[in-house]
Amino acid sequence: MTRVFPMVVMTIIITTPAIVMANSAGGKAGFSTQRGEELWNRKFTVSGQPRSCATCHTSDPRLAGKHLRTSKLIKPMAPSVNPDRFTDQRKSEKWFKRNCKWTLGRVCTEQEKGDLLEYLKTQ
Ligand code: HEC
Repeated sequence: MTRVFPMVVMTIIITTPAIVMANSAGGKAGFSTQRGEELWNRKFTVSGQPRSCATCHTSDPRLAGKHLRTSKLIKPMAPSVNPDRFTDQRKSEKWFKRNCKWTLGRVCTEQEKGDLLEYLKTQ
């Protein structure tokens, strides 16, 4: 236990620093709801198409979104109306990776993920 525990902690810190920090430090790690909100609504051009997080999730995280291509309903992102959000770290990481790549054309930095999470969690 004494040897395994630090390893587990290390692994978690190395793989998901932004989420760990946002969860444990409550935003004290230098994340900003304002920057998160700005990034959430910022338009990027990828493959000649304007894209933003709000494209599928709407600019109000408390509202249900709709998938741009499949028109499938996406439940609200704000934990205040959808308490299931951000309870599964693996799920959050998976979607951050996939959606950042699609929307920004690259993965989000730890700073960007932390800002986005800080913004979304307080909605
Ligand atoms: C093309 C549509 C689309 C765009 C654009 C999009 N998302 Fe998503 N997002 C989804 C879908 C679909 C899901 C999974 C279904 C669900 O969780 O309701 C999802 C889920 C998520 C989750 C998982 C939340 C959880 O429950 O833990 C996060 C985080 C997320 N998106 C963040 C983002 C961010 C940040 C952006 C912008 C960089 C973004 N999304 C842009 C479609 C999109």
